Amino acid sequence: MRLRHCHNVKDFRAMARRRLPGPIFHYIDGAADDEITNRRNTEAYEDCDLVPNVLAGVETVDMATTVMGQRLEMPLFCSPTALQRLFHHHGERAVAKAAAKFGTMFGVSSLATVSLEEIGAAIKTPKMFQLYFHKDRGLTDNMIERGRAANFDVLALTVDTITGGNRERDLITGFTSPPRLTLSSAVSFALHPAWTFNYFAREPFSLPQLTTHVKEGSNVAISVGEYFSSMLDQSMNWRDAERVRVKWDKPFCLKGIMSVADARRAVDIGATGIMVSNHGGRQLDGSRAPFDQLAEIVDAVGDKIDVICDGGIRRGTHVLKALSVGAKACSGGRFYLYALAAAGQAGVEKALENMRSEIERDMKLMGCRSLDALNRENLRFR
Ligand SMILES: Cc1cc2nc3c(=O)[nH]c(=O)nc-3n(C[C@H](O)[C@H](O)[C@H](O)COP(=O)(O)O)c2cc1C
Repeated sequence: MRLRHCHNVKDFRAMARRRLPGPIFHYIDGAADDEITNRRNTEAYEDCDLVPNVLAGVETVDMATTVMGQRLEMPLFCSPTALQRLFHHHGERAVAKAAAKFGTMFGVSSLATVSLEEIGAAIKTPKMFQLYFHKDRGLTDNMIERGRAANFDVLALTVDTITGGNRERDLITGFTSPPRLTLSSAVSFALHPAWTFNYFAREPFSLPQLTTHVKEGSNVAISVGEYFSSMLDQSMNWRDAERVRVKWDKPFCLKGIMSVADARRAVDIGATGIMVSNHGGRQLDGSRAPFDQLAEIVDAVGDKIDVICDGGIRRGTHVLKALSVGAKACSGGRFYLYALAAAGQAGVEKALENMRSEIERDMKLMGCRSLDALNRENLRFR
């Protein structure tokens, strides 16, 4: 299969599956428990239909949006995701450059495999730094400072990983960071020689945001679930979130808000935005999908804070549905991660191009020249 034959997220997923050793593919693809929430994140969009208007003169359409003070040329951005050099040896460098080409925001994880300084120097387009609140306060403060010094525009504090989700595929495959060599992982590396060559012969694996303070994840193999449970601070509360916001003192968002009550508290502590998200179904299985929950949250706080709908996005129409309900933008992880694994920067560019052209075509078919023409009149729930 070739990149030019990747017309949609399913095609990229199939290509990623062939390129990656099993434990790495299943780390991306998998979710918590029975993966019900992960499936619902996408299926929620299918319970709702778009109602187009016609004869609207749509020879040119404008899909730009401004979210948390950042102008994005398209209303879908790349959510922060961990460990990208395991998926392709260019890792975050590839995603950063692809996102910059499309004028959209790139979210860099605390568990990124390229430094904030390098990403900050590489791209001038909007950048989000995703913060994990560690027990080691020195590390947490150090990351905030590094993000600021590297000119990141938005800080997103992730609030849905207070303990590790039960990712059973990772338990089965024994996936850790860095990958541990076991008999079964060795077999799967041997069956994927191109990946294995790139992993062992190129730049050594590391987590540069963490290595100044902790060895786990870089030098000591640990599962991501264990990392959350043992390294992150389970006493984190609203006062801590507010202190992070004050320390950062630029656009600030909470990632992983699902209830109306919490959305209101996000407004109270002065957040600029919230990402309505269940971490791609990787944490609390059986929790509600972002799109199912979006209207309640927009109705409560949409006039006070920017609401982003994160997760489950596989088509341009999903983006238009979330924007019709009142999200300012959408974001996602797997839609670009499969593409990164499939073909590096060229893959992520193709994934973004597919999404951009779907959004453009769908706007025309909906009779919308700009995103503010979308509203709930365009939607009917079944
Ligand atoms: C492989 C992978 C790694 C992730 N790593 C992080 C992370 O380090 N920090 C974070 O806040 N969210 C992380 N996420 C969650 C994403 O930011 C996003 O919420 C999720 O991918 C959205 O669901 P989608 O993949 O269906 O788009 C990760 C998701 C995946 C798939």
